[in-house]
Amino acid sequence: MDSTVLSLLAAFVLSLIGLFGFIWSLRKGLLVENPRGASVIFVRGEVGDVDDPALVSRARRVLQGEADRVGGAHAAVAALQEGAQGTPAPLRADRGDRAELVQRVQEAREAQDAGSATAVAAEDVVDAAALADRLAADRSTAFPVFMFIAFACMWLLVGSAAGLVSSIKLHEPDWLVAQAWTTFGRLRTVHLNAVLYGWITNAALGTILWVLPRLLRTPLAGGIWAMIGGALINTGIAGGIGAIAAGWSDGMEYLEIPWPIASFVFAGFVLVVLPALFTLANRRVEHLYVSVWYMVAALLWISLLFLVAKLPGVHTGVQQATTNWWYGHNVLGLWFTPASVGAIYYFLPKTIGRPVRSYNLSLLGFWTLAFFYGQVGGHHLIGGPVPGWLVTLSIVQSVMMIIPVVAFGINMASTLQGRWHLARYSPTLRFMVFGGFMYLASSLQGSLEALRGVNAVTHFTHYTVAHAHLGAYGFVSMVMFGAVYFMMPRVLHWEWPYPRLIGVHFWLSALGVCIYFGGLTVGGWLQGEAMLDAARPFMASVRLTLPYLQTRSVGGSLMVLGHLAFVGHFLAMVLRFGPARTGAALFWQQAQQGRPAREAPAGVVHGQ
Ligand code: HEM
Ligand code: HEM
Repeated sequence: MDSTVLSLLAAFVLSLIGLFGFIWSLRKGLLVENPRGASVIFVRGEVGDVDDPALVSRARRVLQGEADRVGGAHAAVAALQEGAQGTPAPLRADRGDRAELVQRVQEAREAQDAGSATAVAAEDVVDAAALADRLAADRSTAFPVFMFIAFACMWLLVGSAAGLVSSIKLHEPDWLVAQAWTTFGRLRTVHLNAVLYGWITNAALGTILWVLPRLLRTPLAGGIWAMIGGALINTGIAGGIGAIAAGWSDGMEYLEIPWPIASFVFAGFVLVVLPALFTLANRRVEHLYVSVWYMVAALLWISLLFLVAKLPGVHTGVQQATTNWWYGHNVLGLWFTPASVGAIYYFLPKTIGRPVRSYNLSLLGFWTLAFFYGQVGGHHLIGGPVPGWLVTLSIVQSVMMIIPVVAFGINMASTLQGRWHLARYSPTLRFMVFGGFMYLASSLQGSLEALRGVNAVTHFTHYTVAHAHLGAYGFVSMVMFGAVYFMMPRVLHWEWPYPRLIGVHFWLSALGVCIYFGGLTVGGWLQGEAMLDAARPFMASVRLTLPYLQTRSVGGSLMVLGHLAFVGHFLAMVLRFGPARTGAALFWQQAQQGRPAREAPAGVVHGQ
């Protein structure tokens, strides 16, 4: 059968599946107005309470004051949303250990009906149980999360050093050429693997393992297996980076780690994913918050993608290139992206104390991302010796990606409406908002970059590298930084010792990536135009990039300084430097001296 007919048929079948998926989601009520779904990350009375453990108590009070000051109409909306969740989120009734809770609620109701003076509201019993579940979830994840974040920090330093040296070598080509492992080809690949697998993957796994049990109100099952998995993944990364530096590589971008070593990484993924799935299966809540969809899907996607792409001896020739980029873009779009978007959907509303404005839009974003991202990889092969329909399909899907991206943008903007200024006070929010904007910017730029006319100029130029850092750094890494700042005080039970350093880190990273992106975007475009101009010698296109490459090294140096501040601060926190503060991180101390919890059930403190 003609390949065009086949592709049209495949597109038709896919649309039918999409249609059935849509009907199914309607039947399941996924698309009905459901503010209660958006509120499950809060217990009753928590809506309106800001929460950022990266702040010391005083700064947190200022943040709350700012949120209350501009409350006005928005406070009314919050109150409405809170009203909508009046009854606590439903729990799964089939769990044996819920029986006791159900009984306590029953007793509370009976005591209320009997007019007992000491009666406790049934909702308070459920709220107290929800907070106890959150505490238990945090306790169960503390060790694995710490381990993943510590590895992430270590690899961030290795990757940053390799990135900066690679960058300088592009305008100082005679520097560090005596040893084979310090040449550009190897150091660049070391950089890639250290930042994408060492830094982002570890940080994303740590974030997912911390957030999931909280949202599922269930302690992490088999945390020890997740830790063994983490050890295997990091052994694979260390072995892989060593092999690449020594000149042994599988030779496909993002898949360079030789497959015998990569099998450690895959085994590690399995050991991390299984505990997450067990926790999901044993969850105590009925409703799955949108971050759960994103994060669990991301875990399954990366494991399968990695397995299929690394199978030895299966992919050869043109198919190998196609598989390479099928994996290459999916690792970005179906691993880093959903992990980060899922994190924003949890941390952003939590920080400002307001549920996501349009929960349905967030679900629409998830399903359209799942539907369109899988086929975009072909846009890396525009102009290559691959079937035309494959590239065309990938371009169409790349443009369709505008739907989930815009859905996310509208949702973020409307959720933050009237509260943008809180980003000045909350470090976590600042990183999340910056990351969210960069998600919009990099994806919309990507949709344009996938068009044949634009790609003809940008392909094989530094323009692509600028886009890569806008996405992998401006979006994903910034979201991960924000998540680490939020999680660590709760994991280590210690506040960030030098809060100002967080601001220093933010500005160095933000400014650095803007300089990096701006410089290479302009330089890359000019380079592309020069390469297309048959009247100009190739060397002209190389020479003209020099000032832009130097600009990149300046921006990159700022980013690296930011990373030093971040990792140094993390170390100081682990070593218990700084005053023993009694702020946002330590909820039991808040009970004694923190800000009064609004409508808190007896004995329960908010902000856990
Ligand atoms: C709708 C979303 C997106 C689309 C349509 C898109 C499209 C593209 C296109 C067309 C290229 C250039 C391919 C080439 O000429 O070789 C590219 C490269 C790249 N994109 Fe995106 N992009 C999107 C979002 C993102 C995001 C969110 C990230 C980061 C998480 C990202 C990271 C990258 C990277 C790292 C590369 C460089 C790949 C390489 O050659 O090594 N992109 N993207
Ligand atoms: C954690 C942060 C970082 C992430 C996630 C990251 C990610 C990436 C990615 C995905 C690529 C491949 C781009 C492509 O081939 O199109 C890349 C290449 C590169 N990155 Fe980074 N990067 C980070 C930090 C840095 C820093 C701080 C520098 C310092 C200047 C840097 C310099 C480079 C260089 C020189 C390349 C090679 C570009 C080329 O092949 O022409 N990166 N990085």
